[in-house]
Amino acid sequence: MTIDCAQTDAVTLYKTLTSVVIPRPIAWVGSQDAEGVHNLAPFSFFNVISHDPPHIMISCVNPKGNLKDTARNILSQKQFTVNLVTRPLLEKMNTTAATIPANECEFELAGLTPLPGEYVNAPRVAESQVQFECTLAKDFTLTGATGGATVLIGKIEKIHLNDVIHDGTGRIDAEKYLAVGKLEKHNYYTPEGKFGLSRPK
Ligand SMILES: Cc1cc2nc3c(=O)[nH]c(=O)nc-3n(C[C@H](O)[C@H](O)[C@H](O)COP(=O)(O)O)c2cc1C
Repeated sequence: MTIDCAQTDAVTLYKTLTSVVIPRPIAWVGSQDAEGVHNLAPFSFFNVISHDPPHIMISCVNPKGNLKDTARNILSQKQFTVNLVTRPLLEKMNTTAATIPANECEFELAGLTPLPGEYVNAPRVAESQVQFECTLAKDFTLTGATGGATVLIGKIEKIHLNDVIHDGTGRIDAEKYLAVGKLEKHNYYTPEGKFGLSRPK
């Protein structure tokens, strides 16, 4: 089977691309607006793209062309945090994917503790084992039939590692870290195997 992308609808492309590029790490992105209202949301269109200089990318799709709160906050404030999602945090991460009004806070909704950034004005997730503090290095918009995507490249300014998971040299013990990854549909790769979790409204 060969898929000609120009002749294929966006839903089919989403299904194919998100079920072949697996597992994907999940960036739990902390940001805030000009009034200091916190926002937290997960993004699996995410990866580290360079260690020297240290950079990551996330991509926020724009449903019907509308920016998500995360993209709006990062484009206006130029800073954000990326908190890595591990097995004990999977259900709370899912809770923060709910669509709620911009003036409401996902930290409260999921029972998580916001921790101020040391370098950036954006909240970290205190419960997360690994937290990156990032400044916006570059952004660009991909246009698409259903709204396209805003691609955000962040320069990692600070990395916070929980002392339980590293060996003192910055190397992580995977057995203790319990990383998870996004699989197809609403499934996740976890240290115990495949795990399903319905998306909240
Ligand atoms: C595991 C997971 C991964 C997600 N990955 C993405 C993604 O890569 N890009 C995206 O635009 N939305 C993604 N979403 C959906 C957003 O998290 C969701 O639209 C969220 O409400 C956006 O919040 P915001 O409006 O506060 O930015 C994902 C959701 C989950 C549960």
